[in-house]
Amino acid sequence: MRTQIDPPEGSGRSRANGAFHQRFADEARFIKAWFENPGATGAVSPSGRFLARAMARCINVDAPGPVVELGPGTGPVTQALLQRGLAPERLILVEYDPAFCRLLERRFPGVRVIQGDAYDLATTLKGVLEAPAAAIVSSLPLLNRPDCDRLTLLSDAFDLLGPNGVLVQFTYGVTSPIPRRKPGEETIPHFSAEASQPVWLNLPPARVWCYRPLDGPAACKVNRAKAMMVKFRAGSGRVKDEFLETCDRIETEIRLARDRVRLDIERRAARVRAARTMRPAMDLLRRIGEPRKRR
Ligand SMILES: C[S@@+](CC[C@H](N)C(=O)[O-])C[C@H]1O[C@@H](n2cnc3c(N)ncnc32)[C@H](O)[C@@H]1O
Repeated sequence: MRTQIDPPEGSGRSRANGAFHQRFADEARFIKAWFENPGATGAVSPSGRFLARAMARCINVDAPGPVVELGPGTGPVTQALLQRGLAPERLILVEYDPAFCRLLERRFPGVRVIQGDAYDLATTLKGVLEAPAAAIVSSLPLLNRPDCDRLTLLSDAFDLLGPNGVLVQFTYGVTSPIPRRKPGEETIPHFSAEASQPVWLNLPPARVWCYRPLDGPAACKVNRAKAMMVKFRAGSGRVKDEFLETCDRIETEIRLARDRVRLDIERRAARVRAARTMRPAMDLLRRIGEPRKRR
């Protein structure tokens, strides 16, 4: 199935024209996806080829096992991985957006496309990987997610990696998108993190980070436990905030009810006072009125 922004088949355009048209069409797709879901799309245009190549250079294509790409979008990193010599059958793409999935299937024959949530890899890739992965390459917009989701992603990714496997992630930020240290706490996970030089030719400039587990499976378990702890703390923090908010609301409601009662009492008292003040005048009026009636 073709979308309206694909170039027409057999148009006889030159390759340069075709590449320009494809880039333009991808920009349009991205902007559309960004409008529909800015948080998940995370960028208004696809990564440039210099960034895509910098990511692809981080993987060893000779290492055994599949390579999983998370958040491929329109496929610039997929393209770079294939150009690096990775066989299409070894590549598994996990993409959330169904329109991007259809495009990727059309654009990269032989590559497996899974439509699903990359932040829940255990479920999304259940029964998909036949061997430990050589690498996981991610373009997910991690900075839009809380620390606990990023740490869970790291643990899930490490669980899927074979020995010497690597998780590759790009970021527009200056620090590691996977938190390495919490203020006042010891280093959280047992992993190494290595950043590339900024890729200045990408707009905006970006860095590529490579994460590797340090101590094998035991460290993965520690990472997972710590990720759960961070999640639990975030959860208990939320419960505490909700509790305090409810207390504030109840306090405000009580104050308002008290003010309403006070106003009501004051209004009634004023009415009584007015009635008392008026009574002699009313009596006088009554007395004046009575002889008139008799006449
Ligand atoms: C910043 S874009 C990167 C796209 C592409 N790799 C590139 O470099 O141009 C992020 C991509 O991640 C996808 N994405 C966001 N959240 C996701 C999730 N939970 N699971 C899978 N894909 C997700 C988005 O649909 C989008 O295609």
